[in-house]
Amino acid sequence: MIKTLEWTDSGVRFIDQTKLPMEESYVTCKTHEQVADVIRTMVVRGAPAIGVAAAMGIALGVKNSKASSVGELKRELDDICTLIGNTRPTAVNLFWAIRRMRDKFETLRVRPLPQIKQALIDEAKRMHAEDIAANQAMGQFGAALMPANGGVLTHCNAGALATCGYGTALGVIRAAVEKGKKIHVYADETRPFLQGSRLTAWELMKDGIPTTVISDNMAGALMKLGKIDAIVVGADRIAANGDVANKIGTYTVAVLAKEHGIPFYVAAPFSTIDLETPDGSKIPIEQRNAAEVTHIAGKPIAPEGVGVENPAFDVTPAKYVAAIVTERGIIRAPYEESLRSLAEQALVSAEKS
Ligand code: MRU
Repeated sequence: MIKTLEWTDSGVRFIDQTKLPMEESYVTCKTHEQVADVIRTMVVRGAPAIGVAAAMGIALGVKNSKASSVGELKRELDDICTLIGNTRPTAVNLFWAIRRMRDKFETLRVRPLPQIKQALIDEAKRMHAEDIAANQAMGQFGAALMPANGGVLTHCNAGALATCGYGTALGVIRAAVEKGKKIHVYADETRPFLQGSRLTAWELMKDGIPTTVISDNMAGALMKLGKIDAIVVGADRIAANGDVANKIGTYTVAVLAKEHGIPFYVAAPFSTIDLETPDGSKIPIEQRNAAEVTHIAGKPIAPEGVGVENPAFDVTPAKYVAAIVTERGIIRAPYEESLRSLAEQALVSAEKS
C-alpha cells in the first residue's frame, strides 16, 4: 500500500511526490515549519492529503511546544495555524483541517497540557483514518457510474498520493476494477507539474490497472474517436452552487465532455465542500512560480524572460458536472439544494454520534 503520509514516533513522514516516479524516497518532518514547507513545495499535494498534512503539522507543533500554560499554548497554536494556513490557498481541506484542530483544542482547554497534546495527535491520526474510509465509501458509490468495459479519462492525480490512501477519483476507478469492470484509464499528463504522467500513471501501474498517458491537448481528439466513455476527477473546493475548483485544465476537459456527450464526474469527500463560498468566482486560485511552466526537471523549455501565466487551478461551472460522488452518496443537480441537504444530513449524524 502507498503510504502518502503517516504519523511516526520521529515525525510526520511523507513520500516525496516531487521525485516520483524516478525515485521513491521519503521526507520526515520534525517541526511544523517543515510541514508547512513540504505543503508549499508540493512534496505532499492533493486536497485531502494537504488537509491531513496540516492537521499533523499542527499536532507536531503543539507536541514540540514548551508552553507552560494553556493560554501560552493557544497563542502558539494561533501562530502554527497562520503559518500552515498560508501555504496553499485553493484546497479548502487545508482550512477545514485547521478549523477542526482548533475546535478540538477548544474542547480540551481544561485538561492538563500533556493530555491536550496527545488528544491533538490522536485527532490528526483519526482524520488520516477517516480519509481512507471516505475514499473507500466513495469508491463503492462511484463504481456504479463507471462503464462495464471502456475508457475513463482523469486529470491530475486524485489518487492514493493525493489522499491518505485509495484516492477519490482513482478510488472510484479502483473500486470499479475490484468489482470486475474492465477499465482502461487515460491519464492527462497535467502540465505544468505533470501529476498525471508522474503520479497517476505510477500508482495505477503499481495496481496493474491498464493506463495510457496522453498530453493534455489530446483529450478532445480521443473523445471524438470514441475512446472515452466517462471522465472522473477530484476537486480542491466545491462551492455552494456546485462549481468545482480543480487542477488547471479540468475546465477544458469538462467543456469537451459536454460537446461529446460524455459524463463528467467529480469525486470528493465532504471536507472539500465549502458552503461558505457561494460560487466558483469567489474561490481563491493559487498562482504558482513561472519556472514550473518555463522549465521541466530544471531544464528551460522557453526563452528566458518570456511572459508566463501559471494559475494552478480553474473552476468548472456546475452545469458541466453530471454528478458529485461523496462518501455519503452520489448527488446531482440542482447542487445548491443537494449540497445543502448533504450538509444537513452530516450535521444530524454528527449530533447522533
Ligand atoms: O496542485 P495539486 O497537485 O495539489 O492539485 C491537486 C488536484 O487538483 C487534485 O485533483 C485535487 O486536489 C483532488 S485530490 C483527491
